[in-house]
Amino acid sequence: MNNSKRNKNSDSKGKGPGRKKISDKNKGKRGSKPAKRTSAKKSYEDKDDEEPEVRRRGDSKAGVRKGKGRKHEPVVVKQQHEFRYEQDEPIRLNKYIAAAGVCSRREADKLIEEGKVIVNGKVTTEMGVKIKPSDKVLVDGHEIQPEEFVYILLNKPKNTISTTDDEKDRNTVIDVIENATGKRVYPVGRLDRNTTGLILLTNDGELAHRLMHPSFEIRKVYQVETDVILSDEQLSALRTGVELEDGPARAYKVDRHPVLANVIRLSIIEGRNHQVKRMIDAVNAEVINLKRIIYAGLEIGDLRLGKYRNLTRKEVFELRQVAKILDKKSLKL
Ligand code: URA
Repeated sequence: MNNSKRNKNSDSKGKGPGRKKISDKNKGKRGSKPAKRTSAKKSYEDKDDEEPEVRRRGDSKAGVRKGKGRKHEPVVVKQQHEFRYEQDEPIRLNKYIAAAGVCSRREADKLIEEGKVIVNGKVTTEMGVKIKPSDKVLVDGHEIQPEEFVYILLNKPKNTISTTDDEKDRNTVIDVIENATGKRVYPVGRLDRNTTGLILLTNDGELAHRLMHPSFEIRKVYQVETDVILSDEQLSALRTGVELEDGPARAYKVDRHPVLANVIRLSIIEGRNHQVKRMIDAVNAEVINLKRIIYAGLEIGDLRLGKYRNLTRKEVFELRQVAKILDKKSLKL
């Protein structure tokens, strides 16, 4: 946070939410006296905007147990829960094309309309047509095959980028889950480099697209450790809304941690860049540690940092319901 802003805020004492700094000694006691900023601050430095530290692939990676010649040791179920289309049950052509990872269903409709799709040797321009998964489908002259979907829930460690590849060769979430699947999966949304917690990875493009679209109002819950014990006024400012440079933002729920005085649980629907950090900053405090514990109804539970697991069938079903993809029939559930 910028100092001039802090000073400005502290000058307006009594108007806005107050700051209560905590020392290690006072941690855990609500309403404890202001003390100097603790060294804990160092544990959360979001260096997203700073020159990144260069990590080569194969270097020891955060949150992932490694030993000599030892590969990552994920808590991943041995058998992949893959979700496949029922053997030869008819499915809509646009859905088949989307499932093959070619494009979205809507874009597939356009391709069909434009005569770019050939089913069993015949150009098919009919909208809503159903085909069998065993049919031979060409799009723009290329044969396509729908992929089996995989859904991986990762407890993202710090110092990990939420992208598939990093031009600066920093550690990515894909590096952390390597060996989890032979398929190309993508993170659904982003967490900052030093944010830990729940991130979903999948090759189900349609689901990912929906979960990231603001109209689906996906709920995210963050556990936020702050440098000070937030006052009731600060919490209520987060609930009613704070002004950020790209518009107002509010939490739909804010609770204190049952035990830790400087930790809150903050629930938001939007997912703007650095939103939680900026909201906390707006109430004149600072994030020390940020962890996402719930995303779209999925919970991190006791999954350890750097570990991952496949979603259960029930979780996939519920997720697809949240995303309003109601295709019970086409999934083996
Ligand atoms: N808000 C943030 O500030 N950072 C994240 O990683 C996620 C939400």
